[in-house]
Amino acid sequence: MLRKTLAFAAVVGLLTAGVALAAGDAKHPHKQAWSFAGPLGKFDQAELQRGFKVYKEVCAACHSLSMMSFRNLGEKHGPFYDPEFPNPNDNPYVKAIAADWVLQVNDIDGETGDPIKRPATTADRFPNPYPNSVAAAAGNGGAVPPDLSVIIKARHDGANYVYSLLTGYSAAPAGVQKTPAQHYNEYFPGHLIAMPPPLTVNKVTFDDNTVASVKNQAKAVTAFLAWASEPKQTERKQTGLAVMIYLILLSLLVYASYRRVWRNESH
Ligand code: HEC
Repeated sequence: MLRKTLAFAAVVGLLTAGVALAAGDAKHPHKQAWSFAGPLGKFDQAELQRGFKVYKEVCAACHSLSMMSFRNLGEKHGPFYDPEFPNPNDNPYVKAIAADWVLQVNDIDGETGDPIKRPATTADRFPNPYPNSVAAAAGNGGAVPPDLSVIIKARHDGANYVYSLLTGYSAAPAGVQKTPAQHYNEYFPGHLIAMPPPLTVNKVTFDDNTVASVKNQAKAVTAFLAWASEPKQTERKQTGLAVMIYLILLSLLVYASYRRVWRNESH
């Protein structure tokens, strides 16, 4: 009897532990059809432009993108690449984006040595919205918004995860304890995140008249961040394809010459 009771208690214990673990675990991200997925995938320039708009008008208020310079926007396969301006520093659109950036960059006056603020140029990196991480944490309920330069590479199933996170806010289920600075999101490990839901319907207006639903904004900004994580991705895939075609042709040629060389020899 005692043995039976103990075995029963052990099974109940294991089951409860399993449920508790599952509750702490983040939900699997939604799979999306990304234009840049797969060996032949490439970035969709219009989508990158929409995504840049979302980053600029929404995410940049809290998140830096420290590995990106403004000129990167005008590089081949980038959001504002224009074949007329192979050098992105000459691209008038990229120049205007840099000069208009709302957060101005810190610099030193060349004559007086005083610290000054000046408009960005194409050579500048995107400025950090916060002067330091203490200020960033103080402004966000104690959590520092991470730099987004390589976030898609830094998270498992990066693009699907970020998309799911941005679209995955819901009301906290009864019994979940949270502070006013925390928000409930099933895709975030632990489910309580210090980032308030950043996107709402029509938060930005897309210049190409794409409907600014939360999903469309999330998809575009995720594509933009995927490009930022690996701006040379399209080039790398195109080179890979050319190399494969070359190797296949070379193998055929080698095989043909092998047949020719040994044509009159009996085995
Ligand atoms: C009001 C400030 C704020 C805005 C606006 C904001 N974020 Fe965040 N974000 C945060 C904070 C704070 C965290 C850290 C959350 C934590 O660790 O609890 C965060 C975390 C993240 C993370 C990392 C999640 C993880 O797995 O660690 C991603 C990705 C992210 N934000 C993307 C975005 C995107 C994309 C936008 C724009 C659509 C955006 N954020 C807008 C404050 C913000």
